[in-house]
Amino acid sequence: MHRARRSLLYVPADKPRALEKARGLDADAIIIDLEDAVAPQAKGQARDAACATIESLRPREVIVRINALSTPWGRDDLAAMKQAKPDAIALPKVRDAEEAIAARAATGGIPLWAMIESPRAVLNVGEIAGAGVAALILGSNDLLKDMGARHMPGRANLTPAMALCVMAGRAAGIAVLDGVHNDLADQDGFLAACRQARDFGFDGKTLIHPDQIAPCNAAFTPSREEIAAAQAVIEAFGANPGAGVIALDGRMIERLDLQIAERTLSRAP
Ligand code: COA
Ligand code: MG
Repeated sequence: MHRARRSLLYVPADKPRALEKARGLDADAIIIDLEDAVAPQAKGQARDAACATIESLRPREVIVRINALSTPWGRDDLAAMKQAKPDAIALPKVRDAEEAIAARAATGGIPLWAMIESPRAVLNVGEIAGAGVAALILGSNDLLKDMGARHMPGRANLTPAMALCVMAGRAAGIAVLDGVHNDLADQDGFLAACRQARDFGFDGKTLIHPDQIAPCNAAFTPSREEIAAAQAVIEAFGANPGAGVIALDGRMIERLDLQIAERTLSRAP
């Protein structure tokens, strides 16, 4: 069974109102954040709030993003999560396979998700994906900062990292999730970024605001037209079981299109 991870909403663990609100939201997963969204003086209280909230967010998938293990808070975050047992722990600023393997050995069996958010991580993403992590999240804001780059239209300077993350995730057979869109008022740009992520092969996108959930879910859900087209491919091969290639509506379809069609239907609402 395909597990939908179209929309993953970050919720700062030091915002009780947002944690409360997250319960009723239609995101496929909630990422409770202890890291960048939480100020240093609020780390301890945020950790306690995260532990107290995980259960109330289920049956949704609940991930906790802890602080990097090199920070003053990372080890305490990890110890607390071993008790609180989220569905996964997201580890920021992973740089190589060695770090991923060491962290995975310390989670007490809780799946580890790796944030890919530095030039070094992008260059090592194949080995990180193969190090036993369960998902990759592109951390595009930190990545751009460390690249010394700026936000560009169409994310032109991020597309190599996006494609490498997808390659690495697919090669390892794990989920790959796109970074956030910062401009909350820019609905057209947000939708374009969701579609771009979908077309690149991402399973879903990380989000920062409840208003981003519905358009994101829609972008990562096959449309009625896509479902009808997939059904037509399946019917065409059903009617020609011995064929390798068929012409359908003036276009060549191959057996690989049958697999694509089946995947589309597995993601249909
Ligand atoms: N999760 C859950 N609820 C959220 C939310 C989130 N990420 N962001 C906003 N909300 C809630 C607010 O609590 C508010 O609820 P209420 O009206 O019932 O009180 C409602 O949605 C509207 O919020 P709004 O006023 O539009 O947002 P804001 O200006 O207060 O906050 C941000 C904007 C960006 C600061 C906020 O959305 C946020 O903190 N996002 C997550 C940031 C994050 O985690 N970053 C780290 C990863 S990149
Ligand atoms: Mg960050």
